[in-house]
Amino acid sequence: MKDNTIVTFENVSFKYEKEWVVRNVDLTIKEGQFLGLVGPNGSGKSTLIKLMLGLVKPDHGSVYLFGKPIKQYKDWQEIGFVSQKANSFNSGFPATVMEVVKTGLVSRVGAFKFFTKKHKEKARQALKFVEMEDYAHSNIGELSGGQQQRVFIARALVSDPALLILDEPTVGVDARHVTEFYDLLARLNKEQGITLLMVTHDIGTITDHATHVVCMNKTVHFHGASEEYKEFNEEDLNKLYGHSVQQLTHNHDHEVSPK
Ligand SMILES: Nc1ncnc2c1ncn2[C@@H]1O[C@H](COP(=O)(O)OP(=O)(O)O)[C@@H](O)[C@H]1O
Ligand SMILES: [Mg+2]
Repeated sequence: MKDNTIVTFENVSFKYEKEWVVRNVDLTIKEGQFLGLVGPNGSGKSTLIKLMLGLVKPDHGSVYLFGKPIKQYKDWQEIGFVSQKANSFNSGFPATVMEVVKTGLVSRVGAFKFFTKKHKEKARQALKFVEMEDYAHSNIGELSGGQQQRVFIARALVSDPALLILDEPTVGVDARHVTEFYDLLARLNKEQGITLLMVTHDIGTITDHATHVVCMNKTVHFHGASEEYKEFNEEDLNKLYGHSVQQLTHNHDHEVSPK
């Protein structure tokens, strides 16, 4: 695991209560990939991310981050996270865009106890990258969902993450701006070399942007390059999302047995 592997799941299973929510998941994310994670509602996507962020612990199996068992992993500033609920500030929320972005530096600034010019410049550059520098002094609550999401990406960028995880970031983004949003993510991946993991509902367009796709429903049904996913797409996706999901499970060795 000394290679360029950023995330490894080894036979990971997890349940909150009685039912398995994540089952026998093997997964690797390599440096430089833009991985799209798709699956029906309730298929365990957000839980997989919680496992990756150490917010819940596997019942079986192991998670490794940057080659280290997650228990030993300490460099959390290497991982940025943008949640699907990020864009829920109402218009009265009392913070400017610049202030929100600077909160991404809090763990670094801690040692100095104040923000220096350098920090401010870092925040400004991040806002520039997401094309929101003109809004630095606007109130965060006054922005559209898509603009707020860009600001949250800027906040994640100021700590120079190697891996950026986004959980349904386009929820609340106006349909007209979704493409621009994906273009921004592609630039992050290509120009800044940031490895991306994005949970998304946009199964139709994900292959235009992601380099790799994981399709899960508790267990992983597909993991491969976007090109291969396009073929899988036509054959199996309807089954996976439709009512015949259980039927499909017969074709997969380590899927949960239907009840
Ligand atoms: N905190 C929780 N406690 C109990 N069950 C949960 C909790 N969070 C999620 N679940 C259940 O786990 C399953 C997977 O949820 P989730 O990972 O959020 O799926 P997805 O993100 O794919 O929609 C769902 O059945 C959901 O109801
Ligand atoms: Mg979810």
